Amino acid sequence: MEITKVVIPVAGWGTRSLPATKNIPKEMLPIYKKPTVQYVVEEAQSSGLTDVVFINNQNKKIIEDHFDYNLALESVLERAGKTEILKEVREVAEMVNIISVRQKVQLGLGHAVLCAKEVVKNDNFAVMVGDDLMFGSEPGIKQLIDVAKAENMPVIGVMEVPRSKVNRYGIIAGEEYAPGLFKVRNMVEKPPVSEAPSNLAVIGRYVLTPEIFEHLETTAAGVGGEIQLTDALQKLAKNDRLLAVKIRGRRFDAGDWVDYLTANIYFALHDESLRDDLVLKLQELLSCR
Ligand code: G1P
Repeated sequence: MEITKVVIPVAGWGTRSLPATKNIPKEMLPIYKKPTVQYVVEEAQSSGLTDVVFINNQNKKIIEDHFDYNLALESVLERAGKTEILKEVREVAEMVNIISVRQKVQLGLGHAVLCAKEVVKNDNFAVMVGDDLMFGSEPGIKQLIDVAKAENMPVIGVMEVPRSKVNRYGIIAGEEYAPGLFKVRNMVEKPPVSEAPSNLAVIGRYVLTPEIFEHLETTAAGVGGEIQLTDALQKLAKNDRLLAVKIRGRRFDAGDWVDYLTANIYFALHDESLRDDLVLKLQELLSCR
């Protein structure tokens, strides 16, 4: 099973992050020194994915521009002798191939994935949600790719969440056939707490086979009036065609303000040149509450 393509839906409005996202795509809000979406693309690249398919809308083209050259800026940096930052700026343009697909109306995550059909064709492919950030010793999507290759099956990433928060996620019920590996039996999008089949939540990482497109084409609008990827995946689960992997690592939901701010501090603390000063400032803030 060869997997080189990753679909990253980025056409959503980012209403949870307003007013910051009134004119800036939520995927471009910086986390420490980089836009949020760059962390997602870096995870894809370090997992061997080379072709990024952004599912985008007409107002968010700067996402694609970020992964392209900026020749005017580069010549300014070159003339100023700022070679280190010049190298960093150029490297972003050389990370992956960018393919852009228009989602002309935003009808949900399932609809966004369906928009990739003509580009993905008969290949297996990954899907990564542009504001779900994963960090750990092994890239999150790589953990799914390894299982998908070994088992020749579609695989989704899950994590345990507090029961009180199950109504924010797709929730699975499954049979754990090896440590951290599940055969998915049932999936529900954003269930009320009382109806959730477990507390294993779908995190924005998927490895899919092209059979998902047939299911998406016949999936009606579900929760929130949106065409839900979860509802199409449920059809695979009912045919015993879906596995789940409990992803190892730390997750930040960049659309949640506490997670967003924590992610900024997390990355800044990993920068030796800032760490000590930042710790002092944080202690100062905490002491004068
Ligand atoms: C989407 C999926 C949901 C998943 C979540 C993870 O929901 O529909 O199943 O649990 O991403 O971030 P959204 O956050 O787009 O409402």
